Amino acid sequence: FLKSEKIRERMDAYDELKEEYNNCQRCPKLCKSRAQVVFGSGNKHAKILFIGEAPGANEDKQGIPFCGASGQVLNQLLESVGLSREDIFITNTILCRPEKNRNPEKEEIENCLGRLDKILEIMQPKVIVTIGNFATERIIKKKGITSIHGKVFPYKHAVVIPVIHPANFLYQGRNPQLFEQMKKDFEGIAEQVNKKTLIEL
Ligand code: URA
Repeated sequence: FLKSEKIRERMDAYDELKEEYNNCQRCPKLCKSRAQVVFGSGNKHAKILFIGEAPGANEDKQGIPFCGASGQVLNQLLESVGLSREDIFITNTILCRPEKNRNPEKEEIENCLGRLDKILEIMQPKVIVTIGNFATERIIKKKGITSIHGKVFPYKHAVVIPVIHPANFLYQGRNPQLFEQMKKDFEGIAEQVNKKTLIEL
C-alpha cells in the first residue's frame, strides 16, 4: 500500500467531512447565529491539533479559527516556542458562532462530537492541545483548566495538553504573569512535539 495513496485517501476523507458539515443543520440556534461554518485551518498533514471553543465574530466573518484577538495571542505563544500556524491544524469544539459568544450548549457540543472524532481519526494527531475548558472536557473528560493546564495526558496514541484560553488572558487585561505561565505551557507543547514527528507523510 503506497504512502501517497494513504495520504490521498486521508485528504479525500477530510474533504468529504468538510463538505458534509459545510451546510450543517444540526443545531437550530447556531444555524441562525452563524454566518458560516468555520471548519478548521492550518496544515492538514500536521500531527499537532489545536482545539478551541467556538468561532467568535472575526472567525465567523472570515471562516478561519483564531483569526481575531485570541488568535493573535495564540500566534505569539506559538512563535515563542518556534512554531507557526503552518505547523498545526486548528479547529473548535463547535464549528459555528453562538449568538453574542455565549457558551456552547451541551447538545450543540454533542452534535459536533462525531465531526471532531472523525477529524481525530483522519488526522491521527500525535499532540492534541485543548484550549480552555470546553475542549478539554470534551477530549479528556476533565474540568478545571486553571489546575490542569500544561499537564500531559496520554490519549490513545497521542498526548493531550490542556492550555488556558487566550480569551482569559484578554479578560484579565493581558496580565504579564499569566502570559509567562501560558508560555511555559507552550514550552511543554514544543517538548512533546520534538519527541514526535511533526509531519508524517
Ligand atoms: N476562540 C475560540 O475558542 N475559537 C476561535 O476560533 C476563536 C476564538
